[in-house]
Amino acid sequence: MKTKYMKQQLTFLSQSVGKVTSLALLLLSSSIPGNAEKIEIHTPNNSLVVDLWKDGEPKFVYYGQRLSTYDLNVLPEPTNANWSHLELFPAYGATHTMSETALAMTHVDGNMSTNLLVQDYKVTDISDKAPNGKERSGKLLTITLKDPLYPSLVHLYYQAYNDVDMIECWSDIENLEKGTVKLTQFYSSCMPIRRGDVYVSHFHGSWAAEAQLVEEKLNNGMLVIKNKDGLRNATTDRQEVMFSLEGKAQENAGDVIGAALMYSGNYQITIDTDDSEYHYYFAGINPDNSEYLLKKGETFTTPHVAYTFSNEGLSGASRNYHTWARNYQLRHADKQRDILLNSWEGVYFDINQKGMDQMMADIASMGGELFVMDDGWFGDKYPRKTDNSSLGDWVVDKNKLPEGIEGLLRDAKKNGVKFGIWIEPEMSNTTSELYEKHPDWIIKAPGRKPVLGRGGTQVVLDLSNPKVQDFVFNIVDNLLTKYPEIAYIKWDANAPVMNHGSQYLSKNEQSHLYIDYHKGLIKVCQRIRDKYPDVIIQDCASGGGRANYALLPYFDEFWVSDDTDALQRIYMQWGTSYFFPAIAMASHISATPNHQTFRTIPLKFRCDVAMSGRLGMEIQPKNMTEAEKTLCRQAISDYKKIRPIVQFGNLYRLHSPYAGDNLASLMYVSDNKQEAVFYWYKLETFVNQHLPRIKMAGLDPSKKYTVHELNKIDTTPLDCEGKTYTGDYLMKNGLEVPFKHIVNYHDQNDWASRVIYLKAN
Ligand code: DGJ
Repeated sequence: MKTKYMKQQLTFLSQSVGKVTSLALLLLSSSIPGNAEKIEIHTPNNSLVVDLWKDGEPKFVYYGQRLSTYDLNVLPEPTNANWSHLELFPAYGATHTMSETALAMTHVDGNMSTNLLVQDYKVTDISDKAPNGKERSGKLLTITLKDPLYPSLVHLYYQAYNDVDMIECWSDIENLEKGTVKLTQFYSSCMPIRRGDVYVSHFHGSWAAEAQLVEEKLNNGMLVIKNKDGLRNATTDRQEVMFSLEGKAQENAGDVIGAALMYSGNYQITIDTDDSEYHYYFAGINPDNSEYLLKKGETFTTPHVAYTFSNEGLSGASRNYHTWARNYQLRHADKQRDILLNSWEGVYFDINQKGMDQMMADIASMGGELFVMDDGWFGDKYPRKTDNSSLGDWVVDKNKLPEGIEGLLRDAKKNGVKFGIWIEPEMSNTTSELYEKHPDWIIKAPGRKPVLGRGGTQVVLDLSNPKVQDFVFNIVDNLLTKYPEIAYIKWDANAPVMNHGSQYLSKNEQSHLYIDYHKGLIKVCQRIRDKYPDVIIQDCASGGGRANYALLPYFDEFWVSDDTDALQRIYMQWGTSYFFPAIAMASHISATPNHQTFRTIPLKFRCDVAMSGRLGMEIQPKNMTEAEKTLCRQAISDYKKIRPIVQFGNLYRLHSPYAGDNLASLMYVSDNKQEAVFYWYKLETFVNQHLPRIKMAGLDPSKKYTVHELNKIDTTPLDCEGKTYTGDYLMKNGLEVPFKHIVNYHDQNDWASRVIYLKAN
């Protein structure tokens, strides 16, 4: 066995690899040996080791805690014992037919079998711009694979970040054959995971019930998680999963591998467990009805999968995703988010100038900083009175808003708040001027009537068509050119692909629709960001339907769910926080009875839940009592104190609502461990109820923290109020939290929650 050390060659290259364009790549090593050679790339705390040799299949060796040089050298060769095959990118047909494969293609001559063998590899230093525009650096391992029978190449990429525990993997399929090849399966990556007592955490969802945690033990057979919505791939099952490698998932202990596919369209994740010692995780674009014809000379680039490893349990893996997201994925993640009022649940389609002015004045008086006018402001020939018309006609409804957006911006200025606006640019209604002009722009099968969505008239514009891409770009461009004071855009998408068919794509390319739609969408988003880097944009798709790392680089945050019920939000925000940081999770205080669940939850509890994400309001303030406004004013002012800890701090999930014992708790700790904020929610009330005391996490054991309750409603302070405890004590014992609020008899109810601020002396 050779050691991992190789002759080093220094060469300067200039090349473009997939989505990464590196101006000067330093080629560190490249000569491919005849014997197996172990190649390692690492992040600060993780190592990935693969085994490569000329004309052999690339093999997986190790992914986990970073290895010392000594341990790297004694790593065993990948084994064939117990049928563990450990290929990094198995292709269908030549040597793999019975198990899942990463790639399947039909060659020009009709041959459906492919055999991908290593031709070359290189490890390069990269320094480039991350998707959110920030500078990043790391190492890129590129492995070039080729079938001995065909000239086409597959390039497999592993990009390790220098400062965060994240390795992104993807591939390029380069057609160098004499004609068109057909791709029928195109996963981005395969990761073998050693069997044992492995549990997978994944997220099921639907409208108003997004990101519901499912935790299951991996057994023999295949677990398939996929989405076929066409547009909103997080509205059903989600494309991010975590593997707990040492038995049932734990929040703050145990080895965990996280894997987040970064795609905006239909995806498929397959975890194939055969008779070998490994589970094989595959993730990529869903090939259902999506065969892709790749012309001679063309390259198909798959979406990235972002992997992390943590030995600090699920929360540890989440923190890695949050750091990576804040540094390199999300727009403006270093800037505090404004506290806003959104008009939707307050007035729905009943937009008018006076009403908007009143809402702006109300949110300003409670300490808010931004007002967002939601759906219902547009349409000339067909004014948008409800959800059955006008999408596509992005002109102000002059009856509702006689002074137009100018008038709204003037009122926003007068009230001292910023102004934001809702659009749904990818859509139209059959009752709209746009549809009358361009019926050929919508997605529908040739010769068939369109299937109609929301309001009985909604249709989806075909973003594979460059004219539609221009139209969608121009919606944003026109608004922001005319009204540069617009500070915030809510970009909504409320329909799936309801009938397959592109009126733009050729008859041979109809199966490209799902993929080309998303290529078009990303192009538009990129154009918008190139021209408007500063505007804040919310990613909304009937709620959290587009919480994904393909779109988030172009957005600043997403709407977690249309369900604003505080109890259900605890579960949804819990699940969402596995992969997404609080700064991205829009979380609003709304009215009671709740408009989705009809549950009546006291305002204190609603505020405490909303304050654990990006705080906002979604309510008609003029229907609130003075006492309610005072409580919200207090919540907003308290949130301003903790905003940097919530939005930039490190999350520790402490007690899961899914544990079934009526309690949920989490906390955020600032990077320097000087400040923290602790959340405690009682989920149900019984007489003679006994809830566990919650141990904190993430504090500095040697620091002393003084404790203050925020959002207080009790008539007497908590026993711990103003007292000082060591971090060690708080992490080993926690605080005693009373199970109910001490309030006047008539103010009593069955809900209890606490937000506690900790500051080191
Ligand atoms: C769905 C979104 O999720 C809501 O917040 C709201 O914007 C409506 N669409 C408007 O139609």
